[in-house]
Amino acid sequence: MSDQGLEGVVATSSAICDIDGINGVLIYRGYDIHDLAQHATFEEVVYLLWNGELPTRAQLDDLKRRLGASMALPKEVVELIEGFPKGSPPNPVLRTAFSALALYDPDRDDNSPEANYRKAIRATARMGPLVAAIQRVAEGKQPLEPDPSRSIAHNFMYLLQGKRPDEVTERVFDVALILHADHELNASTFAARVTAATLSDFYSAITSALGALFGPLHGGANAAAIKMLREIGTPDRAEAWVKAALGRHERIMGFGHRVYKTYDPRAAELKKMSKALAEKQGNLALYDTSVEIERVVQSEKRLYPNVDFYSASTYTALNIPGPLFTPIFAVSRIAGWSAHVLEQYAHNRLIRPRAEYIGDRGRTYVPIDRRG
Ligand code: CMC
Repeated sequence: MSDQGLEGVVATSSAICDIDGINGVLIYRGYDIHDLAQHATFEEVVYLLWNGELPTRAQLDDLKRRLGASMALPKEVVELIEGFPKGSPPNPVLRTAFSALALYDPDRDDNSPEANYRKAIRATARMGPLVAAIQRVAEGKQPLEPDPSRSIAHNFMYLLQGKRPDEVTERVFDVALILHADHELNASTFAARVTAATLSDFYSAITSALGALFGPLHGGANAAAIKMLREIGTPDRAEAWVKAALGRHERIMGFGHRVYKTYDPRAAELKKMSKALAEKQGNLALYDTSVEIERVVQSEKRLYPNVDFYSASTYTALNIPGPLFTPIFAVSRIAGWSAHVLEQYAHNRLIRPRAEYIGDRGRTYVPIDRRG
């Protein structure tokens, strides 16, 4: 029998990230996610994922300088975005525009480890500005120029909203980036590694990952979660809504996980941040509705929230539009995808599994006018 969905199959070795799904533990390169969320910056985590060690001050400064120097988008890519049909949803625009960045990368035809590291820096620096530019163009506005002296989190909020984020906003978004940065062999990372394993180029691998990310069973769940939250609206409506959806055998978006059989540690961090933001803003409606949905799903299905559930109320409190939630996932996960693609190239073997054949055999060709 084949393993439908490859559940529990160990498909590669990796030194980047591990999940203990029974105890709800997530580590990047040996460091617990709670420790990183509390103390690190996203740029430190990027360095850690790519190099295996936390950076020294000089190493971090160097990475930040290189990221800052790469943030600006080629003007041709902005023009490409402006040329797409009005009202295009952000996910396919991001996939197409990201793929186009490959053609403006000075290392386009170089697949050496050094060139791929430089591509990882450019791709990570540009994912945020790209997502912000897509939203600005959709709003009929001119994309803004990034500030190379500031962090990826700061720049994203600034480029999206046209004003400098306050410290709390920048830190909340930075922590959200840390929490989403990597997650072992999730579907998009696996897609990236499969593409890299053919020795196709870095941008092709990341473009594969983007396509896999967008589905509602993966990164698309956060955009679906905010739609659900808005539809439910208030805590008193949650129980009936959830029970009715479960009665129709629908999935409650932002709940359940292939690996975690307990609370997703990332969801615990996001829940804390969502609550703190709601209290600061004096508007607990979305947070309280989320908590009530969690209670009902837990009691009806014994399912826990995953990273996509409380990111919905957190991003909403940061005034980010719902359709951008999935692209934002990529602003962070580009760090993990890059780490995995670099690791795949360093220890490559073609990824080519088999299928259990369940079709017919031994049939004889029938000419077309004798069929039917
Ligand atoms: N709502 C209702 N029922 C669920 C859900 C859910 N969110 N998740 C799992 N189930 C049920 C499912 O119906 C099945 O029940 P039964 O055995 O009675 O048919 C059982 O739980 C097992 O489900 P499965 O689909 O075999 O489990 P899986 O390991 O393939 O699914 C999952 C993992 C994440 C796809 C699934 O939990 C799901 O669809 N969740 C909703 C989408 C979502 O939140 N995705 C984000 C995943 S985590 C972060 C990320 O990757 O972005």
